[in-house]
Amino acid sequence: MTKQVRILPSGREFVSEGNSTLLEAGLSAGLALGYGCSNGNCGECLAKLVAGEVEQTKHHDYRISDSQRNDKLILMCCSTALSDVGLEAAEARDVSEIPRQQITARVKNIQIVDDDVALLHLKTPRTNRLRFLAGQHVKLGGNGIPVSKQSISSCPCDDMNVHFQVPRLAGDGFSDHVFNVMKKGDSVDLDGPLGDFVLDEGSNRPLVFIAWHTGFGPVKSLVEHAMSLEHTETMHLVWITGDKDDRYLDNLCRSWQDALDDFSYTAVESGSADAKVDLEQLMTRQLKIRPENVTAFDFYVAGNGPLLDVCRKTLTKLGLPAEQLTLDQIEHA
Ligand code: FES
Repeated sequence: MTKQVRILPSGREFVSEGNSTLLEAGLSAGLALGYGCSNGNCGECLAKLVAGEVEQTKHHDYRISDSQRNDKLILMCCSTALSDVGLEAAEARDVSEIPRQQITARVKNIQIVDDDVALLHLKTPRTNRLRFLAGQHVKLGGNGIPVSKQSISSCPCDDMNVHFQVPRLAGDGFSDHVFNVMKKGDSVDLDGPLGDFVLDEGSNRPLVFIAWHTGFGPVKSLVEHAMSLEHTETMHLVWITGDKDDRYLDNLCRSWQDALDDFSYTAVESGSADAKVDLEQLMTRQLKIRPENVTAFDFYVAGNGPLLDVCRKTLTKLGLPAEQLTLDQIEHA
């Protein structure tokens, strides 16, 4: 049976089903709830029960004091909803509220696609999950692996799973290691999260995502996060690659377009090793956005220097306020 959970003061709501803990259900719904160990040890997920009933369904070593108990404080990672509930709980509102973490993860899988991109799947320990906001990046490496900044391509709602889309780069130690040496079960250190390429969750404007090649990684994270938040406005996704064979997750993008009413996907081939694009023409002809209407949208762009420059210049010229344009500052190959 499903229960409705309302978090205060934000007023965000999510559904809790079966034996899911309140923390698991909230994270799956895309909320950036405050937590640490997710295992009943640290007390960082303490929340105040202001309505409804919960029961403790997991053992915890953290000792809830008598005064905390009198104040109706509960551990979200060890409690399950018995009815619709209201909770006063900490939520991260921006990147400054997410602590920097050092976590050792394991390689769950590496899939080489189109010869130039490796889809790297890491799994963090159950008691030490990575807290991050969709679109952020981390430093990966350690244990003899050259360190490199890589954008996370999965959603924070994806439990212990953290995904990356690593481009093959000649002479880059991390890339060489991933393509030639790394194997399932290896340890990899994560240091982060870093960066502010994140959704403006306070905005109700329609969203335009523009990605060049592996810039699709952080964009995928943002799209999946927007979906988990049940973003109700239109979303346009533009993925620019050199040619059509470079779109290594084309089917995923098409499945989003098929499944969602207000989602459009436009694949663009630049025909070169650069993200050449006439943005004004693309918006008018394919996205059906008239230049005078750009201010009605929020734009998120992840790619290389030339693409970021084109988007910044074109959109600024058309009058888009700076706060409605978010650029990923990592250079994506
Ligand atoms: S997250 Fe550590 S006790 Fe709940």
